[in-house]
Amino acid sequence: MSCTYLQCIEESCGRRQDPAADLHSCAFCGGLLDVKYDFGPVEPLNLRQTWRQRRLSDDPIDRSGVWRFRELVPFVDPGARIITLSEGFTPLVGTPRAGEWAGPVNLTVKHQGANLTGSFKDIGMTACITRAVARGARWVACASTGNTSSSMAAYAARAGIKALLFVPLNQISAPKLAQALDFGALVVEVGNNFDAAFRLLLEVAPELGLYLVNSINPFRIEGQKTIVPEMLEQRGWRSPDYIAVPGGNLGNSSAIGKGLHELKDLGLIEKIPRLVIVQAAGASPFWETLRTGANELLAIEDPHTEASAIRIGHPANWKKAKRALEWAGGFCESVTDEEISKAKEVLAHDGVACEPASATTLAGVRKLVQAGKIEKGADIVCVLTGHQLKDTEYILRHRAGEKARGQRIQVEPELNSLRRELQRALGGR
Ligand code: F0G
Repeated sequence: MSCTYLQCIEESCGRRQDPAADLHSCAFCGGLLDVKYDFGPVEPLNLRQTWRQRRLSDDPIDRSGVWRFRELVPFVDPGARIITLSEGFTPLVGTPRAGEWAGPVNLTVKHQGANLTGSFKDIGMTACITRAVARGARWVACASTGNTSSSMAAYAARAGIKALLFVPLNQISAPKLAQALDFGALVVEVGNNFDAAFRLLLEVAPELGLYLVNSINPFRIEGQKTIVPEMLEQRGWRSPDYIAVPGGNLGNSSAIGKGLHELKDLGLIEKIPRLVIVQAAGASPFWETLRTGANELLAIEDPHTEASAIRIGHPANWKKAKRALEWAGGFCESVTDEEISKAKEVLAHDGVACEPASATTLAGVRKLVQAGKIEKGADIVCVLTGHQLKDTEYILRHRAGEKARGQRIQVEPELNSLRRELQRALGGR
């Protein structure tokens, strides 16, 4: 089956366009585009059973947590080359201590850091790079706060095509930069923040014939929406009350919204969970826009937060994210760097760690329970978007000084001093 069409999301336009034009915005009004399909009649029970059976299959396509749900992403021609690294299949883990702290609520986390490059980007990238290859792309490009770039570099390497990254100078974490270099990508370090790098890339991409894989590419969103069936299958198709997700460029929240909307339309779920998007204070233009009821995005020129993955002032997908909140009856919250740091620490008590941007979700849930907007005891899934080791500088910074006192001991390699130090350390515990 092939992709049906692209459609502008603007109510005043809504025009359909040819997917072969490789557009990232509406040719008529510049709006964002959706990939749309004519799904035809669907038998929900059969589909669920087919997806379940594929878990036992050895076929590499079935071993992907995206392509296992290929009926939901039918834009690939039969026999086309699929670029996959067995993405998805990420764990859903109960976090009782964090749930107690945040509410109490019944909390589980869907840990996207378990993807091969360590973030949720992989489930979007398999879709987007598969599409890029089908379109004959030789160079793929993105601007990034780090995770999109590591993921794109890996999937481009896998596909045998070239990767060009625009990243803000000295603003992305060392492990993310290291990953991109490891996969052989060409890295352009430019501008003070993601928004500047992205703006420049958009200028030069057409003249250089680059295939853009940022989340304005609607095929990225198609891969990312498959977190929804995967999570629901893990829950026996019982919807949670809430799904919480961090908000940066707002592609992921848009994707989850689309996934929920489509599954509801297809009769695969009965209830759409409420969606909670959490931004970092200092980089929360979407939260500010919704709070004030502004019709246009209240962009931030100099976004700042220690959660570098979501340090974004002009989120490109804000209109799709707004639509997702309308579909899901959800809301947006903003949390400080201190709240993020505390939430990250609390998650670690459950043996679960993540990068700072992901911990916004738990911090946001706690804040919303305290404000009475989320009811105590609610059934909540927090999407943890990135792996703990994605930002080791952050951990070492926060685990230095006062907090780390007693946690790190430096001692002479000599038994008497070792015993003395250990007695002191263990005695105090
Ligand atoms: N969490 C992590 C770990 C991220 O890397 C990102 C975005 C987000 C959350 C926010 O997701 O942009 O879809 O709202 N990272 C992008 C990047 C911007 O370039 O890696 P979003």
